[in-house]
Formats: sequence, C-alpha cells, structure tokens
Amino acid sequence: MLKHEVVVVGAGLAGQRAALAAIEAGREVAVFSKLHPLRSHSGAAQGGINAAVGKEDSVDTHIYDTVKGSDYLGDQDAIEFFCQAAGPTVVEMEHFGTIFNRGEDGSLARRPFGGAGFPRTIYAADRTGLALLQALWERLGTEEFTLYEEWDLTSLVVRDGAVQGIVAFDRRKGDFAQVAAKAVVMATGPFGRVYGRTTNAHSCTGDGVAAAYAAGAALKDMEFVQFHPTALMESGILITEGARGEGGILKNALGERMMAKYAPHVFDLASRDVVSRAIVTEVLEGRGFPGDYVHLELMHLGKEKIESRLQEICDFTRNFAGIDPVTQPIPVFPAQHYMMGGISTDIHGATTLRGLFAAGEAACVSIHGANRLGGNSLLETLVFGKEAGIAAAAYAVSATAPSLPEGGLDVATAPIRAWSRRTEGEDPSVLRTEMQRVMDRYVGIYRNESDLLEGIRRVRELKKRFAQIRVVDQSPVYNLNLSDALEVGHMLELAEAIVVGAYARTESRGAHARRDYPVRDDARWMKHTLAVRGPDGPKLSYSPVAYTRWEPKERVY
Ligand code: FUM
Repeated sequence: MLKHEVVVVGAGLAGQRAALAAIEAGREVAVFSKLHPLRSHSGAAQGGINAAVGKEDSVDTHIYDTVKGSDYLGDQDAIEFFCQAAGPTVVEMEHFGTIFNRGEDGSLARRPFGGAGFPRTIYAADRTGLALLQALWERLGTEEFTLYEEWDLTSLVVRDGAVQGIVAFDRRKGDFAQVAAKAVVMATGPFGRVYGRTTNAHSCTGDGVAAAYAAGAALKDMEFVQFHPTALMESGILITEGARGEGGILKNALGERMMAKYAPHVFDLASRDVVSRAIVTEVLEGRGFPGDYVHLELMHLGKEKIESRLQEICDFTRNFAGIDPVTQPIPVFPAQHYMMGGISTDIHGATTLRGLFAAGEAACVSIHGANRLGGNSLLETLVFGKEAGIAAAAYAVSATAPSLPEGGLDVATAPIRAWSRRTEGEDPSVLRTEMQRVMDRYVGIYRNESDLLEGIRRVRELKKRFAQIRVVDQSPVYNLNLSDALEVGHMLELAEAIVVGAYARTESRGAHARRDYPVRDDARWMKHTLAVRGPDGPKLSYSPVAYTRWEPKERVY
C-alpha cells in the first residue's frame, strides 16, 4: 500500500503551488497527475494574470471590478483577500523565473482586459499560463517530493467523516492502488469537456470534483458556466481576450462595431458574459455571418504588434483556420471556457469534508461569483493553491494516521472492473458525445425552463445507460478505453449538478441567463447554491453571500 502525508491530485498551477507550500511547511508530499505536469491545462491560459501593481492602479479597484464582474455573487471577504495577495504572488512568480513582458521603463507590462477598470493584466505575450507553469515546475523541481505521473483518480477513501486517502489507477501498469494520506488537496482543474464546444483540453473532465462529490463534499454554484466570447469557429480554440485588450474589435456581418450597442462605455472590453450574449444575439437576430459567427478584427493593429504580442493567436488561426490575422478577420463564436462552480471551499481551501482541501478551477471559494473576470483565473490557482497547501500541511500535523479499510480496494474498484468483464454494453465514448450535445443544446448561454427540464431528463437517461457500459480494450497497459470510461462517469455526475442547479435558479445573473427570468433577483437569489450528492441526484441547499463594502447595483459596462 502506498502511503504519504499530503497527497495533491493534479499538477497544474494550483496543484504545484499547493505541493510547494506543503513541502515548505515541512510535510512529505506526493503529487498524482494523469498528465505530465507541463501538459496541464494551466498552460493553455493565454492572456495574463491580474495584479494591481504600479501607482495608478489600486487593490481596491481590482476588488471592485471583481465584485462587479461576479454580478455581486462573489464573497467580498474572499475577493479582498485574493486581490491583496495578487501583487506579492506575481512578484514571487517573477522571482521564480517567469519571463513577463516589460514596458519601456522596464516595469511589468500590463494590458487591458474585459471588465477591468484599469489595464492590470500582466502577461507573457499570449502564453502566460505556460510561462508560469514552466517557472513553477522548475522551482518545485528543487524540492523533494514523489510524482505519480499518468495516474487516474477514481475515488476518495473516507472513514468516520474524514478523508483517509485516494484510490487511483496506474495507466502504465494497469493496476489500481489505495493511497493512504492524512490530507488530500484536489487540484484537478476544470470540467469543460461536459460541453462539446469548449476551449478546454480533452483532459478537463473534473475527476477530482466528481470524486469529492461522490465522497459527500458539497459543490458550490455549479450552474454558473463561463462562455468565452472569442473561440475560433469550428475548433473552439481560444482566441485570447488579450486580442481585444490590444485593440481588437468585434464586427457583425453588417460591418458594425457591434459592442457599441451592448457596452457603450467599454465596447469590446465588457465582461465575458456580456460579450458572449451580444455575439449570440447578433447571430440570432440575423446579423452574423453565414455559418453563425462574427468577426474579430486585428488587422488595424499592424503586423509588428500582432506577431509580437499575439504569437500563439497567429499560429492558431494560420494553422487551424487558414487565416492570417494580419490581413484577415478571425471568425469567432463563444465556447465554454471556465467553471465558476466547483468544490465548495473557504479561503484556505478547506472543504465540507475533513482532510479534503481544494484549489484552482476544481474549487469554488467563491471569488468569481456568477462571472469570472479574465486574468483572475491564473491568479486564483496560485493564491489559493498556496493557501490549500499550507492548510493541508497544518491539518496533516494534527491528523491521526490514516486507516484504510481491509479489502477496501476490491470494494472500491469492483464496479470499474465489471466494465471490462461485460461481453456487451454501451460504448462510453458514445455517451460522452451525447452528453456534450445535450449540454451544448440545453444548458448553453441562454437557458429556459423547458430546455433545462429536457437537459435534466436527458442527462439522467445517460446516467442510466452509463451503468451498463462496457470497456472493450482488455490490455492492462495504457488502457485509455478504461480511462475514458472513468472520465465519462465523472462528467455525467457533474453535468447533472450543473443542469439541476441551473433549473432551480429562477433569475438571470452573470453567466446564468434565463430567457424566462431575465432579471437579477437579489431579494430571492443573492445566495450560493450548494449541491450534495443524494441517491436521486444532487440535493440543493443555499448559503449566504459575504459582504464587506460593495452594495449590489445594476451592472453597466
Ligand atoms: O482570454 C484569455 O486569455 C483567457 C484568460 C482567462 O481566462 O483568464
């Protein structure tokens, strides 16, 4: 049996930062990841990381922008903590070796981003996530820890209300293992692959969120799904908000600068929920291009700026769409991008389950409320990854030795092993595709009661069919058929929590836009949704939003 003091699941920015913090606190740490750490989805973050540095900006403005961006659902005490930590976090990452762009005077260069009252997004061209990931990985590499690479998380082990470890599947050997741990940090990132049209990598299947949910931890605000306004047509590849930050303009098929109607003060740099709805509205009202998209124009920025500040965007559009952004407009339409919801935590990563901590996109603190601002996600991974690592380390000092049940591994893995013994059954990849179609069609940017009811019915039907899946591949080594099946099972649970939460919330707030309840309803709905897994699906309850200084008001950009 494997045994560690602190187990971190996920090796993106949040997981690595948590591991580093726990090691620095003197604990023995193991990191489990289904990917090589440098292939984590954190590396896909393009545009930048927010921090109010420099004289003209202020932490208070960052706090206010984040509260407003959240449509007043973010917890203001957590947002204050988060924004105050931003400057030191960026400086630390710079000291770890991140090569950020610089202004002419040598100070950190900053670009405007959506919903921000000041240009405060610090960047490394349009590869900021990758630059941070590489620097943190090098820093972590100077410490002693155990890395379990290419392991799938299957479940958590819980006894007497406290986490005792994890169960995981070693892809290389084809073995399941129980891993005893005093504390577990879940940092498995997003679950955007519940949708078909998404900017998320194929690995973003919410394994840690689903395992926490299955073990009894509460999920928070799952109905709030962010759609990024500018994803490349066909592929859904992210075209960074930094493109608009550098001066890019959205135009409809009539050649109009469309955002003038929807955000008369800041145009293309409104928050993402506003811009995504605007694009969908233009298309639905017949002002989109044939094939249903609008144009993102960069041509006026000039070749030098486009090719130096937006290097990846040039590569993506040239290689995946055959379009040169220096001379041609980019066809874009929104795609799922980020989950505001996740495992409910406090600012130190503590969940509702003793011994379980969470950070990054797998968690919901909540600082993003109903809509996250661009540039706050990379920051979140580092600020709350560190907090979760410190808290897990402190917990591990006082926790009793973990106790794993006799024969527990067989019990925990019996349903999974049964998939491979069946001679007939459903193909999990078919269920995955059907789930993605259901989520795209019924739980998208605009929602209404009948669609959501149909979404619930269809997701539940898929869950029933999942009970009869068959894993055809019998090979023990790199059985990706089995890994896929695990992921589909996780995503179906999370899809159900999203759609049930969305059906229950009869208002529109941030990214949750109900056609049948088009107005924000602070009297009834200024509260977080909590979902706990029950025998018949998610059981919902609600908890208050924390206020400090900012009274809710109408959100205008
Ligand atoms: O548009 C972007 O570069 C995405 C950034 C983010 O989601 O924070």
